[in-house]
Amino acid sequence: MNPTTNIAVRAARQAGSVIMRSFSRLDSLTVIEKQSNDYVSEVDRNAEQAIIDTIRKAYPGHAILAEESGAQGKDDFQWIIDPLDGTTNYLHGFPQFAVSIALLHRGRLESGVVYDPLRDEMFTADRGAGALLNDRRIRVNDVKGLHGALLGTGIPFRDQRYMDEYLGMMKDLAKPAAGIRRPGSAALDFAYVACGRLDGFWELGLSVWDFAAGALLVQEAGGVVTDIRGGSRHLETGNVVTGSIKLHREMISTIRPHVPESMPA
Ligand code: IPD
Ligand code: CA
Ligand code: CA
Repeated sequence: MNPTTNIAVRAARQAGSVIMRSFSRLDSLTVIEKQSNDYVSEVDRNAEQAIIDTIRKAYPGHAILAEESGAQGKDDFQWIIDPLDGTTNYLHGFPQFAVSIALLHRGRLESGVVYDPLRDEMFTADRGAGALLNDRRIRVNDVKGLHGALLGTGIPFRDQRYMDEYLGMMKDLAKPAAGIRRPGSAALDFAYVACGRLDGFWELGLSVWDFAAGALLVQEAGGVVTDIRGGSRHLETGNVVTGSIKLHREMISTIRPHVPESMPA
């Protein structure tokens, strides 16, 4: 494992203990609504600080982009951090949330770590060296198309501009698919595609910290990640489609009629 991935694993475990310490006393947390339907608590902030402290100690010169504290520093290396992905789940005691940490070098993903502290599942990827779940190699499912596929998604809840288009996509994907799930943590959704628990996934309007680590996991597990039109602008736009090569192709062609000109790629 790359030294940077090792540091990300250490940081993710530290954030995981902050998250689990408060999971049994959720009633005592102070929760703030950042924007409509977008919540944050001291757990998100403390977990993020634990991650940043660990990274800074090992790589003081690297830049950081973290969900709660924003961008710091300027460097070819930039860490992308979501300290708690699935905050709404967490605050409800719904057991699906994760820590997500990625490293970019000049815009290219180098390391990706997604950690589920509840199940103690550590998903890791190094560019060019494959993806692992708790040190065992993982691969995407080699499904041939939508028929019989299990898909994940995220239903728009903040920005609802494209709700009708999104529902059109869902309707056409649901017809051939075996099922569609909305688990509520995009980082884990990607990790689940990487290890074959989901066959594919799509969502509109994600932030880069939700899925930077997950994108590397899927790519290193043999899958494809693109923007909503099948191009490579997903890290910028947050409109994303992922799955095995053949399934992804069919998802893109099914989604295409519902993508208006005005929708960012
Ligand atoms: C959210 C989760 C969710 C996705 C949202 C994200 P957060 O992250 O990944 O699955 O649908 O778009 O904002 O806010 O819990 O870190
Ligand atoms: Ca997130
Ligand atoms: Ca978060």
